[in-house]
Amino acid sequence: MTLEEKLFGTIPDGTEVHVYTLKNNNGMQIEISTYGGTIISALVPDKSGKLIDVILGYDDLESYLKGTAYFGALIGRFGNRIQHGSFILNEKEYKLAQNDGENHLHGGIKGFDKIMWDAKIVENIPNALELSYFSIDGEEGYPGNLNIKVTYILTEDNALEINYIATADKDTIINLTNHAYFNLSGHSSGDVLNQKLMINADKFTVNDEFSIPTGEIKEVAGSPMDFRNLTPIGENINSDYEQVIFGKGYDHNWVLNTNGSDNLKAAQAVDENSGIVMDVYTTSPGIQFYSGNFLVGLDIGKNKAIYKYRNGFCLETQYFPNSINCNSFPSPIFKAGKEFKHRTIYKFSILK
Ligand code: GLA
Repeated sequence: MTLEEKLFGTIPDGTEVHVYTLKNNNGMQIEISTYGGTIISALVPDKSGKLIDVILGYDDLESYLKGTAYFGALIGRFGNRIQHGSFILNEKEYKLAQNDGENHLHGGIKGFDKIMWDAKIVENIPNALELSYFSIDGEEGYPGNLNIKVTYILTEDNALEINYIATADKDTIINLTNHAYFNLSGHSSGDVLNQKLMINADKFTVNDEFSIPTGEIKEVAGSPMDFRNLTPIGENINSDYEQVIFGKGYDHNWVLNTNGSDNLKAAQAVDENSGIVMDVYTTSPGIQFYSGNFLVGLDIGKNKAIYKYRNGFCLETQYFPNSINCNSFPSPIFKAGKEFKHRTIYKFSILK
C-alpha cells in the first residue's frame, strides 16, 4: 500500500511534520497530520456528488501550533476535564497539569494534540495509517509509561474508522478520543444550528458550572438534552435549562445506550442542505457533544474561513469526563499491562 505523503512544515525543534492522504475509490479523502495526529480535512461526496470538506481546520502548521480549539486532534491521555487536576489511584494522589482554570482538560498543557506521532502505513489494510507515541511516566502528571497506537482507516463504504490501543507499565487512567469539528454543509458554511442530531442515549451526566460532571446521571426525557430522535442542534440551544446555560450551549457527556457495542448506532448527524449523513459507532461508553461554543471568530481556518460561534460540532467518544473522581461512572482505570482498546467509526452517506 502506498499513501500520498507531503511535508507540512517543521516544529520548533526541527522535526518535520508530514500529512498523509487516505483516498478511497468513491473519491472520499482524508488528510492526517503527524503533529497531533490531526484530521486536517475530510472530503465527502454531497447529494450532487460534489466533494465537501466537512472538517474544521487550518491551512498551515503554525496555526495548529498556536491553536487552542483542538481542531481534529487526537486527545490524551485523558479526554475532557478532571476536577482540580487531581485523583487518587491505589491510595496515592496524582496531580495533573491544570490547564482549564484549576481543572485538567484534554490531557494537559502538552496533550496528545500537541505532540509528534510516528506514522507507519499499514501493509495489509488498504488506506490505513498507524500513528504511535510513547508517553513517559509522569508526563503531564500521569502515572506509568504508556504505549499508544492509533490507526485511522478509510474504508470503501466511506467510513473513517479510528482504532485506539494503549498499554501502561503501571496502573493508570486512559481516555483517548478525537476532537474533530464537523460541519456537514462544509467547514466554512457558517453555523450548524439547522443540522440535525440523534444521540442514542436516555441519560447524560450533569455538569457543574465549570463543565465538570458532578457524578449525577439524569434522564434526558423532557429536556433540551433529549436527542433520541433527530433534532436540529439549534432547536433548544438557547434554552434557559441550567445545563445548557452552564455549557454556553451543548458541552456534555451522553451515556450511550449501546453498551459498548459498535454494531449499534451511537449517534447520527444529518444535513438536509448537503444531503450528507454521518453515523457514529463506538465501543466507548459515552459521547461528548460539543456545539462549538468557544469558537468566537478568532480562528482563521482553511481558505481564510473564519470560524465563529457554533460553526462546527464535535462528537467525542469517551469514558465520562472526571470519571476517575465519580464512583458511579464506568471506570477509566487500566491496570499495568491491561490494554485500552476502543474503536470509533464515523460513516458518511447521502440522505435518502
Ligand atoms: C471540549 C470541551 C469543551 C472545550 C472544547 C475545546 O469538547 O468539553 O468545553 O474545552 O473541548 O474548546
